[in-house]
Amino acid sequence: MYKAFRPLIYLFEPEQIHHLTITLLGLSGRIPPVAALLRALFRSHQSGPEVQCCGLSFINPLGMAAGYDKDGYGWRGLACLGFGHVEVGTVTPRPQPGNPPPRVYRLVEDRAIINRMGFNNRGAEYLARQLKGRRPENLIIGVNIGKNKITPLEEANQDYLSLLRTFAPLADYLAVNISSPNTPDLRSLQSRAALEDLLRPLAAEKVLQAQLLGRNVPVLVKLAPDLDDHELEDALGVILEHNMDGVIINNTSLARPVLQSPFAHESGGLSGAPISVLSLSMVRKVSRFLNGRIPIIASGGVMNVADVQARLDAGASLVQVYTGLIYEGPGLVKQILDGGLRIR
Ligand SMILES: Cc1cc2nc3c(=O)[nH]c(=O)nc-3n(C[C@H](O)[C@H](O)[C@H](O)COP(=O)(O)O)c2cc1C
Repeated sequence: MYKAFRPLIYLFEPEQIHHLTITLLGLSGRIPPVAALLRALFRSHQSGPEVQCCGLSFINPLGMAAGYDKDGYGWRGLACLGFGHVEVGTVTPRPQPGNPPPRVYRLVEDRAIINRMGFNNRGAEYLARQLKGRRPENLIIGVNIGKNKITPLEEANQDYLSLLRTFAPLADYLAVNISSPNTPDLRSLQSRAALEDLLRPLAAEKVLQAQLLGRNVPVLVKLAPDLDDHELEDALGVILEHNMDGVIINNTSLARPVLQSPFAHESGGLSGAPISVLSLSMVRKVSRFLNGRIPIIASGGVMNVADVQARLDAGASLVQVYTGLIYEGPGLVKQILDGGLRIR
């Protein structure tokens, strides 16, 4: 059905379709009979497999990756599609417009996207309002946090700290995004010294929040797929030393494998099918290094059930999709879960 509509969808700019979809998902999730209809349409024949990760219970391993619902408007609708978790954001402390459009490209021939959005979002206050109120049963909500573009890099940890304080009471887990390629120099926070300076105060604040809230709010770190082995091991070492709860492997890539689309040379982060091999090999590498000490959430090039199973087999506890949903449509989650996932 979705595939029949796809040529029509492609007549519009990716961002226009995105706004429309988020609005429809947001409205559907707020109108109980429509939400019930969506849930019935997209209900999987298989329940689970349930996953315990970071001290949380996920009804299944599939999640919506960050950046799709940046402002937390559509997560109630996304939950109706069958996701076990939805990661909202990236949110920054203050609202910001992001980079000038056009800033998202569909690479249809490659089943990929290049984006250079630059953390366009309505800011922490807006997102916090969207997260208050009733939650759909069993939905895990992650909040992905980032720094404002105008915040100098040396002051980045103030942004992350204020976001941790704001969202710890509202989120099931937090994801520290230091790997978007579209905020100048953000990725340099992945280097050993910068990451230590960032994670030390965050780790202390996490302990404080746990005391205040009476529960541990897991903090995960999302890394880039473009780190070399040495940089990756350095970053993982610091993440372990500072008691972070997990890693998200990975964000979009600056690499440009052989691509067919005329948009292949646009600047920004590449996602979708062309980063699938890169991302899977990074999950394997990280899994070998971590050896089960903290969990991995896989993100990158997940387009079908085989991609999900490969990541679970490689050691990921949870698997997120973004670009796959754009190409396969809202039935993707049901399709994957009906495929029958096996947890190690
Ligand atoms: C248009 C777009 C916007 C994104 N925005 C964010 C973001 O704000 N924060 C983030 O951590 N990742 C963001 N991502 C990265 C995704 O969360 C995901 O990690 C990446 O796309 C790889 O997964 P995929 O190949 O399944 O798309 C974005 C991706 C796309 C395509």
